[in-house]
Amino acid sequence: MQIIKTAAELSQLLANQNAIAFVPTMGNLHAGHIQLVELAKTKNACVVVSIFVNPLQFGANEDLSSYPRTLDADLEKLEATGANIVFTPSEQEIYPDFDASSNNTYQKITINLPRISDELCGEARPGHFSGMATVVLKLFNLVFFNGANTKIAIFGKKDFQQLFIIRDMVKQFNLPIEIIAGDTKREADGLALSSRNSYLTPAQKLEAPRLYRALGLLVDATKKGNTDFATLEVQTTRFLTQLGWIVDYISIRSAETLLPATSADLKLVVLGAARQGTTRLIDNIEFTLKPN
Ligand code: PAF
Repeated sequence: MQIIKTAAELSQLLANQNAIAFVPTMGNLHAGHIQLVELAKTKNACVVVSIFVNPLQFGANEDLSSYPRTLDADLEKLEATGANIVFTPSEQEIYPDFDASSNNTYQKITINLPRISDELCGEARPGHFSGMATVVLKLFNLVFFNGANTKIAIFGKKDFQQLFIIRDMVKQFNLPIEIIAGDTKREADGLALSSRNSYLTPAQKLEAPRLYRALGLLVDATKKGNTDFATLEVQTTRFLTQLGWIVDYISIRSAETLLPATSADLKLVVLGAARQGTTRLIDNIEFTLKPN
């Protein structure tokens, strides 16, 4: 496994690759990330993993400075999984005009996203998805556009809105990249693995799987024929709030457009974001209804 810090070295190394499978991450790797790398390994391609905590996707009051950075442990896990190249650029490498005090204005051209990116997680995290899409496009340019014929990038389904936006960006910008979605890895109690789970106290960790269970109850109710989505969302929000959660949103959407679900939609996704103390957890369940 080669560990590369600069774009120039990466480009040189990838120049002769025919197939590349890329897994972008922000590090602090857990079994969910490793599952994505294992999926990349099945593609018969050079497996590239990036580790970069992207300042552009964090808001002013978010956890950029405290975000867990565990490079040595991450590299050990990637070596054991069989990644071929790990790209660990500095902020200056990705953003040549980077200046930590400049409040994100160092990236002069950013991706302007459609309205959907201001909803759901985008409502609580203004600018997050534009910062995320901007770095992903930059990483795609660095990883893919020096020759490979087969270009695959793998994203987890846990960040459903992120996956949706990346797929849309690839389509809108005609990027010749195949986006593959990896399943959400869960603890035995249902809690979706996330780097931010490490912020939870033991009591919060016990409570945390309730978000997934609550989303599951919404799926059951919808499958039983209840299509009063607005009421179901309000009831679930109230239920979690009574148990001490601070709910950002609970929303039933079309899995195809991410617009609020209507009774005509058959492919649905229920998404939720809610806080245990200061720790924000997100989760979602995709499901299909049978036509009447
Ligand atoms: O999902 C993440 O870890 C990040 O949003 C990503 C895709 C690596 C971009 O910084």
